Amino acid sequence: MYQTLLTTLDNGIFTITINRPDKLNALNKQVFIDLNTVLDEVYANADIRSVIITGSGAKAFVAGADITEFNGLSKEASTAMAKKGQDTFFRIERSPKPIVACVNGFALGGGCELAMSSHFRIASDNAKFGQPEVNLGLIPGYGGTQRLVQLIGKGRAMELLMSGGMIDAAAALQYGLVNYVVPQEELLNKARSILDTINTKAPIAVGKCIESANAVFDETKNGFEVEINSFGDCFGTDDMKEGTAAFLEKRKPNFTGK
Ligand code: COA
Repeated sequence: MYQTLLTTLDNGIFTITINRPDKLNALNKQVFIDLNTVLDEVYANADIRSVIITGSGAKAFVAGADITEFNGLSKEASTAMAKKGQDTFFRIERSPKPIVACVNGFALGGGCELAMSSHFRIASDNAKFGQPEVNLGLIPGYGGTQRLVQLIGKGRAMELLMSGGMIDAAAALQYGLVNYVVPQEELLNKARSILDTINTKAPIAVGKCIESANAVFDETKNGFEVEINSFGDCFGTDDMKEGTAAFLEKRKPNFTGK
């Protein structure tokens, strides 16, 4: 169905694998077309409760934007390319369903940016992160300068951005860029076990957690007001009635997403 992606849906968890292993899963135009189509599916398909994004092969999550497509790009075309990339990654960040990046190797440039637009990250022990664009006379264009500062702090982000260097999985864990580091063969299972837990919660409440936490970094919004309104919205749901009733009746809730 997709030229550059593999997808599976298992027990509510939808796994998207970027599948260009011979090019270290570099993000070319077709990957962005496919990502936008698959995000339509994520948003629209009620059977999808949560999402894993990973890369094909044992070596790379995504080694960046496809550098072969940079040749001869005009200023206008490259600006449009960055805008398109940012819009795609905003759709990931703003997804009402949890999206976890399973970083199974190199996450460089656009790969690091893709991982950072996901709601949280789990790394395999061979993972490496970096924004090497300065090596090409460039800067990140898909939100990397912003999200790296948000996630690891300005000083560390500045050093990584300006040096073009890489950090390993242990440093990424220490910096808070990833939540866990696990052996590669356990990577997807670790994500699945976390998502299995999240998938037992009320979907609307989970989506409101994402929306409210994202508001911290959105200057057009007052995050505290977003939280107040989201709290009120949750009170109007069947799942809130079910969750509180189940607690009082000392039983497990049966959430329906309504
Ligand atoms: N765009 C296009 N092709 C890429 C790519 C990218 N970002 N990253 C890797 N590839 C391709 C290589 O050109 C090579 O293709 P080939 O076999 O047809 O020559 C293939 O993927 C394997 O990569 P290779 O460089 O041979 O692997 P390596 O183990 O020697 O090095 C990296 C791995 C990740 C260090 C190296 O590939 C690299 O530096 N990639 C670019 C990273 C980058 O600058 N990303 C930001 C882009 S804005």
